[in-house]
Amino acid sequence: MLLFVKLYSLNSWKYFVYYLKIKTCPILFFFHFIIFCQQLPEITIGPYIQNVTSNSAVVCWATKINNPVVVEAFSLKKIFGAKKLLSYYEHHEMILPNLEPNTWYTYDISGQNNPESMGKFLTFPDGLEPFQFAVLGDTRSRHDVHSKNVDRIIEKEPLFVLHTGDMVANGLNIQHWETFFDVTKDLMRSIPYFPTLGNHEKDSKYYYDFFHLPGNERYYSFNVGDALFICLDLEGIQYETPDYIKKENREFFWNNHELPYFEEQKKWLDRTLTLYKDAGFIFVFFHQPLISVKKSRVKGAKMRRKFWGDIFERHRVQIVFSGHDHHYHHAMSGGTHYITTAGGGANLYDIDAIQPETVKAIKKEHFILADVGENKVILNVIDINGDQLDEVTVSKRN
Ligand SMILES: [Fe+2]
Repeated sequence: MLLFVKLYSLNSWKYFVYYLKIKTCPILFFFHFIIFCQQLPEITIGPYIQNVTSNSAVVCWATKINNPVVVEAFSLKKIFGAKKLLSYYEHHEMILPNLEPNTWYTYDISGQNNPESMGKFLTFPDGLEPFQFAVLGDTRSRHDVHSKNVDRIIEKEPLFVLHTGDMVANGLNIQHWETFFDVTKDLMRSIPYFPTLGNHEKDSKYYYDFFHLPGNERYYSFNVGDALFICLDLEGIQYETPDYIKKENREFFWNNHELPYFEEQKKWLDRTLTLYKDAGFIFVFFHQPLISVKKSRVKGAKMRRKFWGDIFERHRVQIVFSGHDHHYHHAMSGGTHYITTAGGGANLYDIDAIQPETVKAIKKEHFILADVGENKVILNVIDINGDQLDEVTVSKRN
């Protein structure tokens, strides 16, 4: 069967069309998208899959603009401010609506059967089906370690990946994103990637250009079956103190300047958790942890925890995933598991301040594979050699 469908396109290529071809195989139906355009510039990033739901997905890729205006990020920041960085990539997003749940789709953005321009993805189930997701954080340096984590995740074929922030060392540097997308290329072409803002993303325009996320993209939620996932932004809308704020006033600045933004986010979180009070599983992820076992960060973690209070425990959030402290840490408080997973690639940190809530802390590179079943979720903490470092079992909410 061959269908002709006109597509809504967010980019400047004016004449996109795609054909929907339905192929059959002995077990499953496969749906295949071929996306054509008049002239296909060289694809330099992607394609990769974003924002998958049970009935939609977004295919993204980027092409380099000819004769780019390349300006040093430092100079731009001085002239325009951090959010005015010029990108020399053109970003393309193709929204694929009206898909079937729990169904494999393949796509080809060139229509030329070139493996480099092709990918596949599985839409989310709309009912209660077991599924797996992977979590990793702080992939920003040591690309060989990041690459090994990526290879391990690909082997496991999770439904999607959560990143707890600090994907790159400097979010304002386009070369860092190029490396990131190069390392994750084979993963992201088939497995949806849900990131959160870390301090190293620096609230960069590139983050919002490259990722197509639900809601306002800064903090958002999505569902898989009866599992709720919530991403928060604990970095705020201004990633560094303005030069004119004197050193002795910086703590006051941070405690007050961003407060309305965080208060609004907290209200949104409370509303979302109330709305989904009957969810079977609730997972929250954000960058800087509320419980730290790194001595120099214990005070900051306590300040963050004071702000968020008992909101996670009160709403019976099962697992809060964070990054930032480059190791693995599992803590428990009031029935909520606080997991720091930041062994994605950045240099590891010592564990030098075990907290009363600590269950386990391991200084090793790793990622987490979460196995969501009918009555429980099992977290498997896996190092880059494939060995299991820890296992955490959490029951379904009643
Ligand atoms: Fe960080």
